[in-house]
Amino acid sequence: MLPDTTPEGAEATASRGRGRRGADRVALRGDLRAAVPDAAAALVVTAGVFVFLYVRMDSGASATVAVMPFMDDSRTYWMYLLSQAFGWSGLLWAWGTVMLGLLLSGPGVARSPVSRQVLERWHRTTSLTTMALMAAHAIMFAAELVRYETKLGWIDRLWAGFADSFVPGWYDSGTGRTAIPIGQGALYLAVPLGLLFYVRHRIGPNAWRRLHRFVIVVYVLSVWHTLLYGTNVWYDEWPRTVLWLLQLPIAALFLLRLVRPARRAERLGGPDRRAGGPRQSWVGRAAGRVAVVLVGATVVGVIAVVVSGHDGGRARPADPPAAVPHEQEGTP
Ligand code: HEM
Repeated sequence: MLPDTTPEGAEATASRGRGRRGADRVALRGDLRAAVPDAAAALVVTAGVFVFLYVRMDSGASATVAVMPFMDDSRTYWMYLLSQAFGWSGLLWAWGTVMLGLLLSGPGVARSPVSRQVLERWHRTTSLTTMALMAAHAIMFAAELVRYETKLGWIDRLWAGFADSFVPGWYDSGTGRTAIPIGQGALYLAVPLGLLFYVRHRIGPNAWRRLHRFVIVVYVLSVWHTLLYGTNVWYDEWPRTVLWLLQLPIAALFLLRLVRPARRAERLGGPDRRAGGPRQSWVGRAAGRVAVVLVGATVVGVIAVVVSGHDGGRARPADPPAAVPHEQEGTP
């Protein structure tokens, strides 16, 4: 259909555009309000994890202290513990929101006892909460660094905390040189990919749908960051096994979503002339088939990791190392 180029038509199009933009803003405000109970639940979970980590530090069972013995003081390092707690609630909420997203885009939604609308609302609110939790995790880490850098003046302290936490490549110590940029990548991708939904009328629903698929990358980066850097999953003990196990349902649902997507147009099979309707391009189908092989291999890999116990965890040493992993700025 040709666009209506008369002044009345242009005005009607502009007002429709304004109306949609307004609707986007209303949708975001509505979802933010709807996310309040969800965010409150996330705070309760974060508080629970914080208390657990705090008590473990006091009892001498903390893996974090085994990795970094200088941290054996929960009163001093409470902000670090809170950062860890937000990291865990963020990862748990990311897990939940990805599961909901995969349920919605895969075959499961038809058999779900909960309506599609409700699942969609939960998916949107949990994804808003996830972003906030991820940000809180990084902010508390920055706050701890600001507290820690006692040898610097205030401006330099603030800058050191900010740059080490938020500027990719700035943090220059140990595994953090790789793990922190991976976490930053997850955070920086999560925000635009999550919030694009609220501007989908401006960019077009198809562009939104195509971009939103990449949100799985955020999740993969988050898990990778945690496996690489989380001191509570540093050793080959039960927390690391549980973390690996939790990836099985995600990988399985992802595989199902690729093989039997809810949207007919996303099916990987060749053109079905009888069914009619839009079909994947051959590039899309080829990419989809490669993804099926990769995700299938991931399912097998995760099972092999859990069954074999070769999960990349180190053996907890009898005598913990006495090294300070991140020297204070200004230390000669
Ligand atoms: C700016 C981005 C980020 C920064 C600066 C950052 C920083 C850190 C640091 C320093 C640690 C090590 C803490 C420890 O001793 O265990 C860590 C661990 C962790 N991070 Fe991140 N992170 C970022 C993004 C993320 C994201 C997006 C997630 C996903 C939810 C995440 C989840 C976690 C988890 C679950 C741990 C393990 C904590 C533990 O072992 O108790 N991080 N992060």
